[in-house]
Amino acid sequence: MKTCLITGGFGFIGSNFILYILKERKDIAIINIDDITYAASPKNLPDNLANYKFYKINIADKPALSEVFDNNEIDYVVNFAAESHVDRSIISPGVFIKTNVEGTLNLLEVSLKHSVKRFLQISTDEVYGSLGKEGKFSEKTPLSPRSPYSASKAAADMLVMSFFHTYDMPVLISRCSNNYGPYQFPEKLIPLVVINALNNKNIPLYGDGKNIRDWIYVLDHVKGICAILENGKAGEVYNIGGDSEMENEEIIKYILNKLGKPFSLVKYVKDRPGHDKRYAMDFTKITKEMGFFPVYDIEKGLDLTINWYLNNENWWREILSGDYKKYYKIMYDHR
Ligand code: NAD
Ligand code: DAU
Repeated sequence: MKTCLITGGFGFIGSNFILYILKERKDIAIINIDDITYAASPKNLPDNLANYKFYKINIADKPALSEVFDNNEIDYVVNFAAESHVDRSIISPGVFIKTNVEGTLNLLEVSLKHSVKRFLQISTDEVYGSLGKEGKFSEKTPLSPRSPYSASKAAADMLVMSFFHTYDMPVLISRCSNNYGPYQFPEKLIPLVVINALNNKNIPLYGDGKNIRDWIYVLDHVKGICAILENGKAGEVYNIGGDSEMENEEIIKYILNKLGKPFSLVKYVKDRPGHDKRYAMDFTKITKEMGFFPVYDIEKGLDLTINWYLNNENWWREILSGDYKKYYKIMYDHR
């Protein structure tokens, strides 16, 4: 049995990853470190999971992290924990540096001390910046982050690579495009649209609505992460994409149509400052080396996601009735 320490396992992608591993891989035990920030949903994971331990720790707290490594034999580390919302990083960048940069450094230092076999940093296509109409990001594209969030993720990537070159630590980086699927926190575009539409509330669409993202269903991302963890080469970066570029306006139209709601719910609002125009991923490296390819096309993924939110109303209603109200108001005031 190998032990994989995950940070941010109560978040959207982290919880999907844990559920997948514990179902598919009986030879892997999970340790989940999460500080349960506003974005965490502990109920994403059922109680009494086998081969699973949880510690409530902030990754910026190095002594607490060290204690976990002192008390457990850890083979792999996957760092999902992050402040992940671009709009919030525009309002309060400080915590993004604390968690995404300092937290990653702590995790690297403690993992190095304990000679972990593999350290996988979960990064993002946003570190590459913004594309015009043509072209795609490859792993060789220079980093050019444009928001405090993406700058903090790029800084973390640089630190991770520095541990490979300086200490020969077996690190890897995955950079993925926009995820969607079950358990995504309703501050992000797709769950926000589904939930606001169901509640007949306005849907804020930034700028002209023509910004493009490359959407990937979260399970495809999870499978890409597993492939990199098992077969990736230390010191390498791997792009993961969904091969599904869509304008924000198109995505919203698709969801409203599925829910039988009118487009008049959409309100064009002030653009996000520094709003990246287009992301698109060249992920031929992971396809060639590991045979990875996303299997969910955007319509299938969106249908599954819409149904999940329809069938899990308690999950999002609980979030909407809690502290999130406060954060939601801050976001609206900002716009
Ligand atoms: P999320 O916001 O849904 O979840 C983040 C989790 O990390 C939460 O459970 C939170 O409690 C935890 N966390 C935050 N700060 C912490 C800290 N200081 N210490 C311990 N735990 C902390 O995020 P997500 O969308 O699941 O993203 C996970 C990772 O994937 C992030 O690193 C993000 O940058 C990256 N990523 C996300 C996407 C996407 O589309 N969502 C795409 C590419 C990469
Ligand atoms: O590309 C990967 C990144 O995708 C991840 O690294 C981030 O953690 C994740 O949050 C996501 O970032 P985005 O900023 O692209 O996602 P978001 O859902 O916030 O916005 C998607 C697009 O929709 C973006 O162009 C902004 C727009 N938008 C978003 C919201 C929340 C709106 O028009 N209205 C909205 O209310």
